[in-house]
Amino acid sequence: MARLISYFYPITKKIESDINGTLEITWYNGKKHLNTKNANYSYGSLQRILKFGLEKIELSNVNSVLLLGLGGGSVIQTLRKDFNYKKHITAIEIDPTIINIAEDEFQLQNNQQLEIICADALQYIEENKSTFNLIIIDLFIDTQVPKQFLEIPFWKHLLQRKSPNGIILFNASLEKSLSHKLESIISYLKSHIYMVEVHEKVNNTNTLVIAKSL
Ligand SMILES: C[S@@+](CC[C@H](N)C(=O)[O-])C[C@H]1O[C@@H](n2cnc3c(N)ncnc32)[C@H](O)[C@@H]1O
Repeated sequence: MARLISYFYPITKKIESDINGTLEITWYNGKKHLNTKNANYSYGSLQRILKFGLEKIELSNVNSVLLLGLGGGSVIQTLRKDFNYKKHITAIEIDPTIINIAEDEFQLQNNQQLEIICADALQYIEENKSTFNLIIIDLFIDTQVPKQFLEIPFWKHLLQRKSPNGIILFNASLEKSLSHKLESIISYLKSHIYMVEVHEKVNNTNTLVIAKSL
């Protein structure tokens, strides 16, 4: 019923999170979205932006995905439905309220192909020793990438979690121009022999960075 009504009027439910503030689950045009006060987190423009990035990646060689920032899990839906990716995904999310929303509102569950871990992405990257073929970094609090993910120490650890031919897809900012910090990350990746593609104003807003081993 909510889906049908949403073609005429958006229907919104609000949930408070200690980490992300007021979260909104909105039925709009027959589809459920997850938003914060100022940003779409999942199943709206964010999903289209990450899909644009995934279209630039050869997924047939990808046997494991690490997703930093689960949100409502829309990129998992994109991987499964649009790219028919059936293999394992590990998803790291700091906010337990968001994990509950992903499970209750967007039907994501831990199973053999999906492991959801409630943890800080920086701590996970520092402590975990596994490697992954594709790492998707989609870490925001409202409209901002938390500053530790724009610092080189995070990237040093991240490169150790990537398999030798692995690929990095970084949803880097909502800003229209490259920040000084983002330019430093791009230089750092290039100096570690990565081919780096920078896509600006994807969907008119975000900057996406894709790094592939040379
Ligand atoms: C834009 S949403 C992710 C959307 C998701 N990738 C999707 O496809 O639907 C950003 C997420 O990053 C999470 N996040 C922010 N800081 C984090 C951190 N330090 N560690 C882990 N997750 C974090 C937020 O709680 C939020 O759920």
